[in-house]
This record gives sequence, C-alpha cells and structure tokens, in this order.
Amino acid sequence: MKILKIEGQHKLSGTVHISGSKNATVALIPAAILASDGPVTIMGVPEIDDVASLSILLEELGVKVSTKGSGHLIIDPTNMESKFLEHDAVTKLRASYYFMGALLGKYKKVRMKMPGGCYLGPRPIDLHLKGFEALGAEIDYSHGCYTIEAQELVGAKIFLDVASVGATINIMMASVFAQGRTTIENAAKEPEIIDVATMLNKMGAEIRGAGTNIITIDGVEKLHGTFHEIIPDRIEAGTFIILAAAIAKKMVIKNIIPLHLESLLSKLQEMGVNMEVDVDQVTIYETKDLLPIDVKTLPYPGFPTDLQQPLTTLLTLAQGESTIKETIYTERFKHTVELQRMGANIEVSNARAIIKGPTKLYGDKVTATDLRCGASLVVAGLIAEGVTEIHDVYHIDRGYDDIDGKLQALGARIWRADLP
Ligand code: EPU
Repeated sequence: MKILKIEGQHKLSGTVHISGSKNATVALIPAAILASDGPVTIMGVPEIDDVASLSILLEELGVKVSTKGSGHLIIDPTNMESKFLEHDAVTKLRASYYFMGALLGKYKKVRMKMPGGCYLGPRPIDLHLKGFEALGAEIDYSHGCYTIEAQELVGAKIFLDVASVGATINIMMASVFAQGRTTIENAAKEPEIIDVATMLNKMGAEIRGAGTNIITIDGVEKLHGTFHEIIPDRIEAGTFIILAAAIAKKMVIKNIIPLHLESLLSKLQEMGVNMEVDVDQVTIYETKDLLPIDVKTLPYPGFPTDLQQPLTTLLTLAQGESTIKETIYTERFKHTVELQRMGANIEVSNARAIIKGPTKLYGDKVTATDLRCGASLVVAGLIAEGVTEIHDVYHIDRGYDDIDGKLQALGARIWRADLP
C-alpha cells in the first residue's frame, strides 16, 4: 500500500496534456463487445485502474484484449461467451454496470454481481432496470446478484425520471438490437453519451439525438468492428485548470474541448482567474485575490458534481464566503472533513457547503475517501504549507492517468511512499 506525499507551496508552470475521458472509456469498453465481426480499436485510452478492472471482465468473458502503442486498446469479441460475471473486478467500479446493457443487448441474458464504485451516498440503478424491463426483460436480484433476461427485446418509449448518465448509456446498449424503435426521453446530455453513441454508430448502430434529451435507437441486426478515438477527459482537464488557478505561475492545459468546460470556465472568470481560452487548450496565469462564488451542481451543461470537490479546495483561497449546493449526490462532502483537518473553514448542511476564505492550509495526514475527494486533496496538498500525506490513493488511481508524473513535470514535489 502506497501513500501519496506532496510538499506544498511550489509554484507550477508548464504544459499538461489531458488524457482520454475516463467516463467515456468505461462505457466504450463494454460497448465494444457488441461487435460480432472484427475487433474494435479504441484510441486515447487512459492508463487508469478502472480500465484494468474492465479488461479483467472482458477476459472473463473470453474477449481478446491487447494493446498497441500508447493508449490503443484492441478489443476482439469474436470468440466471447455469455458468462456469469462474478469476478471481484465487478465490485471495484460503478461502470461494470455497463456490462448489464451490453450483455443483455447481445445475448438477451446477463448474470452479474452488484456493481461497486465510490460511495457518494445512495446510488440506485432503478432507472437502468426499468429501462431493461420496458424493453421486455425480467429482473431477479438475489444473493447480491442480478439476473436479467428477455425472450426478445422490443423497442419501447422510456422516460427517465432523472436524466441519468448511466441509465441513458445502458439503455442505448441494451436496445441496439431490439426490434423496432426505442426512444429515451429526458435522456442525459453529457458529452460522454455522445461519444458512446458515435462509436456505436460507427459500428453500424442507428442512434440519433445523443446530446439532446430525446434519443432514438432503431434496432439493427448486427454490429461490426471499428476505430474510435476517445474525447478528452473534461473532469481531468477541470482538475488541472482548478489546480493551476490555485498554484500556477502559468500553465497550459492542452487537449481539451473548451465547450465541455464552459460551466467551470465561467465560474473561474467570476472568481477573477486570469485565463486565455483557445481552440483546444486553456492557459491559466497566476491570479491574486480570488473572489468568492456560489455554485450549484447540475446535469450537463450545468456545473459537474465531479468538479465540486476539487473546486472546494480552490474556494478556500477566495476572499470571502463561497457556497456549493450539491444536487446530484447530496452526500458528496466527505472531502470537506479532510480539508478541515488541513485548516479549511467549511460548514456543510442540507447538501450545501459554505466555505469561508481565505484560509491557510497546512500539510496533514488525510484520506481520499473517493476519487474526486482524492483530487481535492491533491489540490490542497499543492497549496498547503508543509507535507501532506494522502492515504487510500487507489481511489485516485482509478480515474487519473499518471497524476504524479504530470504534476512532477509541472514542478510539483509529489511522490509515493510506503505506508509507514
Ligand atoms: N439515479 C437514480 N436512479 C438511477 C440512476 C441514477 O436515481 O437508476 C440518480 C443518482 O442517484 C444521481 C443522479 O441520478 O442522483 C445522476 O446519476 P447518474 O446516473 O447520472 O450517475 P452515474 O451514471 O452513476 C456518472 C459518472 C459519475 C458522475 C455522474 C454524474 C460514470 C462511470 N460515472 O455516474 O462520475 O458523478 O455520472 O455526472 O460515468 C466520477 O467520475 O468521479 C463519478 C462519480
């Protein structure tokens, strides 16, 4: 077990290249098994533990997985079989639930353990299951396992009570071979959904409307292999933009789609952060006297819940009182306890954090209780006086590609050490 150590207060400068999107990748990998001839080559795959866990599950299913060069994952499902997914890797990440939609779509039957992932408060999957039922599947849950089975899958009109990213993608995958037309209403609009629909369409699917709140899927007979380059990770990009605003002299964040980051960039503008936005990069310059802001997390294109945790750390530097209202995961505030240990002044009640700044942060022993909590602590470690020790780093490694290497290249003093 390693811990991450950061000696804070060193100004960063240089360029960082953003990796492929984690939340797109974890859906694209299960989507690839829907091909029946020829491999699917996914390019720009980040080196993160979630990809390793999904690769284990592919191998469990008899899918051939190989890599070529950096970030190319070749997934060949030619000889795969429908099997009970009971490997521990299922419980390591939430996104293993995408095998439900993909296997149900391909074999009309799936049996798997309950997916795991970060604890952010209750994370039901009722909308995924209602979608599968609407397509004709029957669901049984017993002894921690789901069995989802259909005689045949028939297109249906499905209204999502909440615009869920996972349910939208899962229903898209389950319905690519369903008879007739499936319509998902109140679909989520996140860029990762467009990326998955784009790859499935390149494989021969007929999906229209991804990125709007009505998606239609016309069932096809079969899908084939393809090549697909993943979109940049807007959350990794947002994390580096936030840490640049906190501690950089000048940092260029490259390989981004600024449109995907508008909600963050407009909030940083409100804080007075000096920045220049270009076609595929943003440059952040050192800014003194950051202003406080009020933020509310919302589905895309609103402010992403995944960035509220790193943003909380930045707000400890602002001159006055900021607030963050969390509307997606009302319990996603464990990071505030860790930040308080480092000196932050934060009160949380009714899913709202009040951050009073500016406060000086001091290095301490803290725990990454979930992935983005980990990101908020990395930002905190970079600005704090002294050395910060982050425990349970495995959460960070699930979703950030070589975070230590990227930060070291920018001048950060960050290293791994054995747990004392
Ligand atoms: N919800 C339901 N029922 C469902 C599904 C969702 O009530 O069946 C609710 C959730 O409880 C939540 C809201 O709907 O309140 C939105 O959840 P959503 O389904 O959109 O989240 P998700 O698909 O499970 C993805 C990302 C999360 C990100 C959320 C919100 C992946 C693998 N995960 O989760 O990413 O926070 O969307 O944008 O794509 C992360 O990267 O750290 C992370 C947690």
